[in-house]
Amino acid sequence: MCITYVLMFQYSAIPKLGIKHIFYLWRLMNHMENSLLQQLQQTTAFIKTKYTKQPLVGVVLGSGLGNFIKGMQVECEIDYSDLPHFPLSTVKGHKGKLVFGSMNNKPVMVMAGRFHFYEGYAPQQVVYPVRVMKMLGVKTLLISNAAGGVNPSFKVGDLMIIKDHISLFIINPLIGKNEDGLGTRFPDMSQPYSKDLITKANSIAKNLGHEVKEGVYCGVTGPTFETRSEYKLIKAVGGDAVGMSTVQEVIAGVHAGMKVFAMSIITDLGIRDEENIITHEEVLTAASEAEPKLTAIFKELVLQL
Ligand code: HPA
Repeated sequence: MCITYVLMFQYSAIPKLGIKHIFYLWRLMNHMENSLLQQLQQTTAFIKTKYTKQPLVGVVLGSGLGNFIKGMQVECEIDYSDLPHFPLSTVKGHKGKLVFGSMNNKPVMVMAGRFHFYEGYAPQQVVYPVRVMKMLGVKTLLISNAAGGVNPSFKVGDLMIIKDHISLFIINPLIGKNEDGLGTRFPDMSQPYSKDLITKANSIAKNLGHEVKEGVYCGVTGPTFETRSEYKLIKAVGGDAVGMSTVQEVIAGVHAGMKVFAMSIITDLGIRDEENIITHEEVLTAASEAEPKLTAIFKELVLQL
């Protein structure tokens, strides 16, 4: 935009240019200023001035699930606020930084604090960090989240490996001009979650003695928790759990050709006969109580990659 203003201001100084030329120049400049790939390259270049190693695993941590970092050998941390073109996190429990280092000798980068659609970010902003991960060389994306259980066999504190998802009214982050440099226009979604990683995670959980469920994650926009009838609808369409994150990040990861794995902590139950008021505090408490199990599985999974 600033180039546009400069051009307009300077227009009187370059009378030989016709209005048509100015318009084309404006379109060109605007395109240059707004190119997603260019922005990603600028963010990546900035990160490389602070950290030169190539991370192979990218981890996105959900609400109240920041402890994964404690098991890492941290080598570099960059606040989102310092990163060009990065949105800022606004939710309680989200720290808002990229953390680089190693976990079980594997180079990893962690997004401590993610961006939600309900915060007002455009879908392309929500997935921007996933694309930065891809540009830095990340091959495998591990995602965690807090979710409400709708499968009647689920209890608060359960872990659920996501085997598939349903996007309910979430805006697809690939809408708009496709960046062919990132991925194809029409990505296949028949198996967004890596079968191989699901098998590995199941056997890791078994060896660690942690019971895990497998299920379908239903992505909603939030920020309201669901009505009783909505929880029932989600169960009826085939969801086992419901949450306000993950789906857009997974789509961007699959689009970019990454291997994706995601896991939910069931922090509340949507379908109950008794009074059922759900609060964010309750969700955070349940998430942090179950977190050690999820972190242990993620750590071992990184080792086996
Ligand atoms: N619904 C939507 N998102 C959630 C829930 C829920 O019940 N619990 C945690 N995140």
